[in-house]
Amino acid sequence: MRTVRATRYVTPFREGGSLPGLVEADDDGLYVVKFRGAAQGPRALVAEIIAGELARAIGLPVPEIVLVDIDPALADDEPDPWVRELLAASPGLNVGLDFLPGSLTYSPMADSQADPAFSADVVWFDSLVTNSDRSPRNPNILTWHRRLYLIDHGASLYVHHTWHDPDAHAERPLPTLPDHVLLPRAGSIADAHARLAPRATADVIASVVDMAPDAFLAADGHVGGPEGQRAAYRRYLERRRSAQAQLSDDVDRSRHAD
Ligand SMILES: Nc1ncnc2c1ncn2[C@@H]1O[C@H](COP(=O)(O)OP(=O)(O)OP(=O)(O)O)[C@@H](O)[C@H]1O
Ligand SMILES: [Mg+2]
Repeated sequence: MRTVRATRYVTPFREGGSLPGLVEADDDGLYVVKFRGAAQGPRALVAEIIAGELARAIGLPVPEIVLVDIDPALADDEPDPWVRELLAASPGLNVGLDFLPGSLTYSPMADSQADPAFSADVVWFDSLVTNSDRSPRNPNILTWHRRLYLIDHGASLYVHHTWHDPDAHAERPLPTLPDHVLLPRAGSIADAHARLAPRATADVIASVVDMAPDAFLAADGHVGGPEGQRAAYRRYLERRRSAQAQLSDDVDRSRHAD
């Protein structure tokens, strides 16, 4: 994963609950930055990295994710006090998504790009990483140059807010899955499992978990320091990947029962 240095805070994204901002970096790129100092805290940034890179690794389209190094002095010229506060609370590494200029939020009514196999793949993936943020009201899918891109994985892997009985958690269905924006278009989720589970190998899981920097993995009462947390994420995702066989069948069965 690349690291870039922020050179300018351009503008806030008013619609984002986590106060993301458009930031220019020293590679002349523009990035949608999620700040470490936002209310969601550093675990949301870990989720952006692990879930976003896992999506990419199994073949789903996600804008490039980078680490963005922020110098708090960037805040000095900011007129908005809340932007100054956010930047001051986010020194060092933060997470940026390559900005897709002119992209539009996916609309289930207006867009036809989501074919049944792709839709099933996204449903399967969101179940794997326990991502609830893909509802019709808040799809977190962008259309750009006639392709769909998945964004905003900060609410995934929510087991990490408590690490309470993660083995049992990994077996449970995602409660919000029936409300998934792509479920009505999705083909068989069991077929998606057959396509994608073989790509989410233990090695792939380990490689995406390793991308989360120590700076976001402050000691946790239950699972310890950065290495303990990486081990917990690996174990959770491997167990969930296995559980997805049954979970996918159950989703298909419940839809056909309707
Ligand atoms: N890579 C990108 N390119 C262009 N626009 C983007 C990109 N990432 C995010 N956006 C825009 O910024 C908005 C907020 O981003 P995002 O959904 O990641 O933040 P959030 O704070 O987690 O949002 P929320 O909690 O409201 O879902 C998106 O809805 C989208 O309109
Ligand atoms: Mg969002």
